[in-house]
Amino acid sequence: MSTPAADPIPRSVSWRRGRVRILDQRALPHRVLHVECTTADDVCDAIARLVVRGAPALAVAGAYGVALAAHRSRSPAAVDAAARRLAAARPTAVNLARGVEQALRAYRRGGAAGALACAEALAEDDVARNRAIGAHGAGVVADGARVLTHCNAGALACVGYGTALGVIRAAAEQGRRVHVWVGETRPVLQGARLTAWELGRLGIEATLVADTVPASLMARGEIDVVVVGADRIAANGDVANKIGTYALAVLARQHGVPFYVAAPTATIDLATPDGDAIVIEERDPAEVLTVAGVPVAPREARARNPAFDVTPARLVTGVVTEVGIARPPYRRSLPSHVRRAPAPPGVTVAAHP
Ligand code: MRU
Repeated sequence: MSTPAADPIPRSVSWRRGRVRILDQRALPHRVLHVECTTADDVCDAIARLVVRGAPALAVAGAYGVALAAHRSRSPAAVDAAARRLAAARPTAVNLARGVEQALRAYRRGGAAGALACAEALAEDDVARNRAIGAHGAGVVADGARVLTHCNAGALACVGYGTALGVIRAAAEQGRRVHVWVGETRPVLQGARLTAWELGRLGIEATLVADTVPASLMARGEIDVVVVGADRIAANGDVANKIGTYALAVLARQHGVPFYVAAPTATIDLATPDGDAIVIEERDPAEVLTVAGVPVAPREARARNPAFDVTPARLVTGVVTEVGIARPPYRRSLPSHVRRAPAPPGVTVAAHP
């Protein structure tokens, strides 16, 4: 399924005339710019610098990166090496390594054309799965609901439609009145720059708040449900997502607010037993010492910048996937979702590689 022409959110990543074309998310919301990658290392760089970000978008960018390497080099060893660099460009989202691996397998079977066909299929597949996530999850957003989301789990974080924002979007498309509280998401402000922009383009009512505000909103009864995305979901249901997610889950539990995670089954990593085993990316402290590139701390200040945190499974009300809503106990429900999900393009066994 392709992104409909009328979709107000531009596609995050695509293949155009032998290049990987990436919407530059660093420039949003003020400018809609694209970066043209001509080598796999350009794609690695774009991933590391957050030109493209969000777990499902990383999978597709990684797969296109393999296709680019395969088109540039006749050496399988060089393609393998490029794939290793791509998979390592960011460690937390399992989707990236999976997308790279799938394209590499397709390359081994069908050469450069096979890798590109795999990347294109993954891109189309992403949109279809996100629409299914939206259809399954829309029911958690009641008419008149005030929904809190964090970071950006919208079309920009995928190829199209979005996961957490897909759930909200589907509820709005079903005619429900929705108001979205958008956490700004320091340090690099994906909520303020990207989610607020997407919701504006979709015509969904939204209010931006500083990351420190949801506690008092919940205490006043002004948040009905929390819906966030995920970068990796361990076998026991622990969820790695953007830093700050864990705090919101604790607050939600304290205030009796349901806390949902929306993600494709490709984000479920049954090989990772629990959250302790998830590698949390540490990013450049400069992102904390600045706001939009402007220094805000004393020159001598030190900073720490973990990009993700882990929300324990016991705080998660449900995980919305393309199959339905997985409920606790997650050790039982998550493997069942993985088994029941359609196999990713080019993969004939039910379990994801
Ligand atoms: O550092 P980012 O912007 O890549 O982090 C993204 C997130 O944490 C998203 O919530 C997650 O990838 C889900 S995207 C559908």
